[in-house]
Amino acid sequence: MRQQIAAANWKMNLTLEEASKLLDDILSGPQQLKSHQKVIFAVPFPYLQMAGTKISGNANYHIAAQNCYTKKSGAYTGETSVDMIRSVGAAYVVLGHSERREYFNESNTMLAEKVNIVLDNELIPLFCCGEPLPVRGSDSQNAYVEKQLEESLFHLSNDQITRLVIAYEPIWAIGTGKTATAAQAQEMHAHLRNVLAKRYGNEVADNIPILYGGSVKGSNAKELFSQPDVDGGLVGGASLLAAEFGKIIEALK
Ligand code: 13P
Repeated sequence: MRQQIAAANWKMNLTLEEASKLLDDILSGPQQLKSHQKVIFAVPFPYLQMAGTKISGNANYHIAAQNCYTKKSGAYTGETSVDMIRSVGAAYVVLGHSERREYFNESNTMLAEKVNIVLDNELIPLFCCGEPLPVRGSDSQNAYVEKQLEESLFHLSNDQITRLVIAYEPIWAIGTGKTATAAQAQEMHAHLRNVLAKRYGNEVADNIPILYGGSVKGSNAKELFSQPDVDGGLVGGASLLAAEFGKIIEALK
């Protein structure tokens, strides 16, 4: 079975003390993960090491950085390299989140560079795509999201793309409480898998986990995750509450 993943994106929230307590609370929850199920915590940079230490030794739990820079090292004040991220125990890097695209002008081309440096340095990209409301309003979301994949991912080899996790996050559903319906999520995830299959073949496309993100909560996770092409969620607000995120973990297939 394809990997099923509950990924927490804490964004720019929590103090160290709060972050540490939240992780303790989640990790001491009742969830029993099967071998194909994973939980990933995308935490702010200053907490990567603390989070890595807390999950170490537990094969189902992983840590992600929320961003990285396109260069290996050097005079780039304020940036964080893939070597730094790997050296503190993270295995994943979230790339292309709509907030980075919108507030920090990250283009499809820049994201292709970030995907390359992450893969070249034995980290796994958790690559986000998704359309804004006007695009959904004009029913052109499929072409919009396809272009994001084409321009940032389709230079990759079969071997490289199989290491990726993709998250579909419609921008109109992020932090708005307005979740895509399970049918809307399934339709887009099936489209993404088709686009991947056309470029890389069915076997590769069938193995890439595609997560849904946008107002996932304990109350809607089960229905969303029960869709055949929805392989879990990338969760913002609800991942800051231990009990809610616990329910989301338990909703994994
Ligand atoms: P919310 O779950 O708060 O809508 O955020 C989704 C998201 O952006 C996760 O990356």
